[in-house]
Amino acid sequence: MELKVVKASVEKGEGLGWGKSLLVPSIRETLKNDSQSVPERYIQEPKDRPLISQNLFDSLQVPVIDFSMLAQKDANEIRKLDLACKEWGFFQIINHGVREEIMVNMKAAMAAFFELPFQEKSKCAKAANEIQGYGQNFVVSEKQKLDWCDMMFLKTFPHETRNFKFWPLTLPGFKEAVEEYSTEIRKVSNKIDANLSVLMGMDENGLKRKLGEFQQGIRMNYYPTCSRPDLVLGISPHSDGSLFTLLLQDDEINGLQIKHKEVWLDAKPIPNSLVVNIGDAIEILSNGMYKSIEHRAISNEKKPRMSIATFVMPGDEVQIGPLDSMVNEKHLRRSYRNIKYIDYIRQKFAMKMQGKAHTAIVKL
Ligand code: OGA
Ligand code: NI
Repeated sequence: MELKVVKASVEKGEGLGWGKSLLVPSIRETLKNDSQSVPERYIQEPKDRPLISQNLFDSLQVPVIDFSMLAQKDANEIRKLDLACKEWGFFQIINHGVREEIMVNMKAAMAAFFELPFQEKSKCAKAANEIQGYGQNFVVSEKQKLDWCDMMFLKTFPHETRNFKFWPLTLPGFKEAVEEYSTEIRKVSNKIDANLSVLMGMDENGLKRKLGEFQQGIRMNYYPTCSRPDLVLGISPHSDGSLFTLLLQDDEINGLQIKHKEVWLDAKPIPNSLVVNIGDAIEILSNGMYKSIEHRAISNEKKPRMSIATFVMPGDEVQIGPLDSMVNEKHLRRSYRNIKYIDYIRQKFAMKMQGKAHTAIVKL
């Protein structure tokens, strides 16, 4: 049941990419034989287990930002965005302009992919020395606990980073849905980038000027039901290595949790909204004014959950470090060292997902 490497291709530069990850079984396939089982490799250490339904802070809500107000440069909404980035590192956006149909098509394409017979999905399987494709990433040891999740990661922008050997091209509508969704999300991310540029003391084009064309990658997550959601994690606690991430989650099923002031809170879905979170690269560029926040996903007994995380990232060769506008008397001294983005990403993929361990490495 191991994901078979269809063809251990020896393409130019392979092995020198973003990283690698040990191949692991598909949890969904494992459950086909016994839907009640919770294999040992997935049972978290007691200290890491989620406390299901003990969410005492239900009333606390991730801030909601009305994107149409940002477009009008509404000062109050911009202030809300600044506070959300400072105090939460997370916000949900409504009125973002991505047509519902495009989100519905994207979700349907993802569902159709995960519904394919395992043999078909395996044609898109990632190799051990790749991070794109169907399988799992961030597995660096045979002993490590595994996440209750199957995933599919595809690079989507710039165009030349698309590697269609990982795309299920025979699945009707999949390519079109991903192309349309990624294009629309790029429009939203350009607006977020413009707003963050201004909030970090530059003009709207500040980040673009400094970082060049952004990269975009899409991670589709499939979390099967679990007979013991109290023992497993859908995704282990981590912060994202991106500038920021836009998450399209299921309209009804809770799963995403964020660590807010040391407490795990549910990020309850708002239908048709997008959840945005600050990634490590903005934490570094903002000199720590905006922090990437630990988050995780939990599983449930009743219904499988799917989500689509779109990561917006600098180019591989770009140096990231605190922006000049963020290093002054007001923001104290520089708190992070400069690092080439690809080096940051490589060290990220070389470790298990582990809370904020990655940003600690570049802290001064
Ligand atoms: C991710 C992620 C959360 C979710 O893919 O990086 O944090 O709810 N996903 O699926
Ligand atoms: Ni994440």
